[in-house]
Amino acid sequence: MRRVGIDAPSRSYEVLVGDGILKSAGELIPQGDEESIMVLTDRRVRAHWWDVAKQALSARGRRLALLEVNPGEGSKSFTSAANLLRRMARRSIRRHDLLVTLGGGVITDLGGFVASVYQRGIPLIHIPTSLVAQVDAAIGGKTAVNLPQGKNLAGTFYQPASVIADTSTLSTLPQREYVSGLAEVIKYGLTLDPNLLTLIADVEAVRNRDAGFLEEVVSGCAQLKGRIVSQDERDTSSRAVLNYGHTFGHALEAHGGYERWLHGEAISVGMVFAAELSRELGLASEDVVAEHRRIFQMHGLPVSAPFDPGEIVKRWNMDKKNLRGQRWVLLSDLGEWKLVGDVGGAQIQAALRRMAAA
Ligand SMILES: NC(=O)c1ccc[n+]([C@@H]2O[C@H](COP(=O)([O-])OP(=O)(O)OC[C@H]3O[C@@H](n4cnc5c(N)ncnc54)[C@H](O)[C@@H]3O)[C@@H](O)[C@H]2O)c1
Ligand SMILES: [Zn+2]
Repeated sequence: MRRVGIDAPSRSYEVLVGDGILKSAGELIPQGDEESIMVLTDRRVRAHWWDVAKQALSARGRRLALLEVNPGEGSKSFTSAANLLRRMARRSIRRHDLLVTLGGGVITDLGGFVASVYQRGIPLIHIPTSLVAQVDAAIGGKTAVNLPQGKNLAGTFYQPASVIADTSTLSTLPQREYVSGLAEVIKYGLTLDPNLLTLIADVEAVRNRDAGFLEEVVSGCAQLKGRIVSQDERDTSSRAVLNYGHTFGHALEAHGGYERWLHGEAISVGMVFAAELSRELGLASEDVVAEHRRIFQMHGLPVSAPFDPGEIVKRWNMDKKNLRGQRWVLLSDLGEWKLVGDVGGAQIQAALRRMAAA
């Protein structure tokens, strides 16, 4: 098992990463004086992992309750948050009681949000079970629910007391979800640490979901995200790097009505676009762009998509992060990123044309 320290300004905690550590969760969770432990999960994750979690958490000798929602993004809503808060109040959950999330990013975002507002904040532990949640969503303290007007429009910053990432839980993750999660790993590699790209070039280990390999990848990503979050917890400067490829990616997701593309697939195309734009601005070489395409294709991730350029530009202009003008995360080389404002319309159009032509 590896321990990665996260030193966020608002709280320091550990991300524990290991194969099979869920069954020791009762001991791994820091000691607290909770009387009740609530576990939030979705129906799909429950079928695979609740029995293991239940047994592990029972070891703490506390009242244990299961809160279940439907799988999928639809559960990340104000309505389900309100339902959960009411269920907690009916159970007389108190300020020192513990909420444990067991699931993908939908569950960690929703559970984080609920834990942060119930009685102004109760202790929170994340047990992420998807690759996206283990390398990204469970770390760094952003919580969210969606509004009809857009994704993640309501939320809080609320750090967990610890994160327990059991890589063996990824064994039951559907293949398409797993590959989609790899896109976030590749994002860390392209922007912050090309060593990760070398690691995941081992397609056999990737395909087999090899335990040692996953432990290295997940802990490596946790370390990188922790470093960024310690510098910029509230996302006013360097945390923007985590949005590499996401401006285009979010627009593509919305364009497809959130059904056509998984998030990781959309940001793969988005990262190719960001590389094309970097090249268009004379920052990056053609080789950097080619490397993007090569890596995504190696893992079966898309590098292009049919899209209407006018629609994409309209979508990203509506994106909440663009209220004060668009700033792009671009690369000058692998592992060398910068924030660039005031990118000309002509260059954006040229990069869009190259995407359409590819
Ligand atoms: N807070 C953040 O910093 C942050 C970062 C990245 C993503 N997110 C959010 O995370 C969400 C996406 O996360 P996700 O891809 O994990 O989505 P998800 O939680 O919907 O999980 C994807 C699917 O996989 C299933 N699943 C999860 N773990 C499983 C397992 N071990 N075995 C079998 N099935 C399993 C789920 O039931 C679901 O059907 C989005 O809402 C996104 O906004 C948040
Ligand atoms: Zn993402």
